Amino acid sequence: MDATNRSHVTNLMNESRATLAIHDPPYNLVAFEARDVADYVAWCEKWIRNTRDSLSEDASLYVWLGADQADGFQPLPDFMVMMRSTDFKSRSFITMRNQRGYGTPKNWMAVRQELLYYTRGNPPFNVEAEYTDIPKILRGYYKEVGGKLRENVERGKSENIRAGNVWVDVQQVFYRMNENVNGCYAQKPLKSSERILNASSARGDVVIDWFSHSGATLLACERLGRRCLTMDIDPVFAEVTIRRLERFRATGDLGWQNGNPFQSEIAADPALSSWAHEQEEEAAQTNLFASA
Ligand SMILES: C[S@@+](CC[C@H](N)C(=O)[O-])C[C@H]1O[C@@H](n2cnc3c(N)ncnc32)[C@H](O)[C@@H]1O
Repeated sequence: MDATNRSHVTNLMNESRATLAIHDPPYNLVAFEARDVADYVAWCEKWIRNTRDSLSEDASLYVWLGADQADGFQPLPDFMVMMRSTDFKSRSFITMRNQRGYGTPKNWMAVRQELLYYTRGNPPFNVEAEYTDIPKILRGYYKEVGGKLRENVERGKSENIRAGNVWVDVQQVFYRMNENVNGCYAQKPLKSSERILNASSARGDVVIDWFSHSGATLLACERLGRRCLTMDIDPVFAEVTIRRLERFRATGDLGWQNGNPFQSEIAADPALSSWAHEQEEEAAQTNLFASA
C-alpha cells in the first residue's frame, strides 16, 4: 500500500480516526533514491494531506526526518516550511542521539536524528511519559513556591530528569539487542516509539504509521494496548512487520537478534539470500553517507 494513494488510505482507515500519527518516511538521502527536493516535498504534501484527513479533531503528528549535511541540509527545512501551509501547529523539534559508531576526522560525528512534533486541535500530552531513568543531580537550585523556598529535587514530580527535546537516553538499535531486525536499515528503537505513544495517546486509541518498515510502531502499540493501522509500500517490509508481531505473540521476542524474518525461506532456498545481502549493502551505504 502507498501512503500517498487516497484509496489505499481510505481502505486502511475504514472510517476510523486516529489520535496519533507516527510517520518515518524515506529521508531523500543517497541511500533512498534521492529526488529533487521540490518533488520530495510535493510527495510529502500528499501523505500529509491523507494523514490530516485520517486524524481526529484533537490529534498529534510526529515525523522522523533527516537533513543531508552534504546537500544544504535538505529536506528537513523544506518540509518544515511546507508544514506551515497546513493546519498543523508546530510544537517541538526533538533530537534523538543516534549513535551508530561511525565518524570522520574531518567533520563532526553525525549522531543526531530529528523528530518533529505537531498537533491539531487540543490533544492531551502526558508529561509523565517524558521522565527518563537519569537521576536529577542539580541540587542547591531554589525557587519560592507558595511562599516557601523549595529545592529543585523537592519541587519536581520525579527524582529523574525529563527527556526534554534532546533524547540522549535512547539506545540506537544494534545487532546485540533483542529488538534488532536484521535487514531493516532504518529501524527505530521501541523505547522512542513507546515514549511517543505514552505522551500522546491513551490505551485503546487508534495510531497510524504509514512507513512501517520493521514494524516498530505496531509492536509498541501491541505492548501498550493501542490499535495500530500501518502499511509499507514494499511488500517485503509489510511481511517483516507481520512476522515481527506474530513472533512477539508466539515467543515474546522483540525481533531477531540472531537471525532474520526470512530465515526459514533462506535456509530452504539460497537464491533468497540475495535480498538479505542487498539490505546489508544498503545499510552500509547509509552509514557511509552519514559519515561524509
Ligand atoms: C525510514 S523507513 C521507516 C522505519 C520505521 N519507522 C522503523 O522503525 O522500522 C521508511 C519505509 O517507508 C516505506 N515507504 C516508502 N515510500 C512509501 C509510500 N509511498 N507508502 C508507504 N510506505 C512507503 C519504505 O519501504 C520503508 O520501509
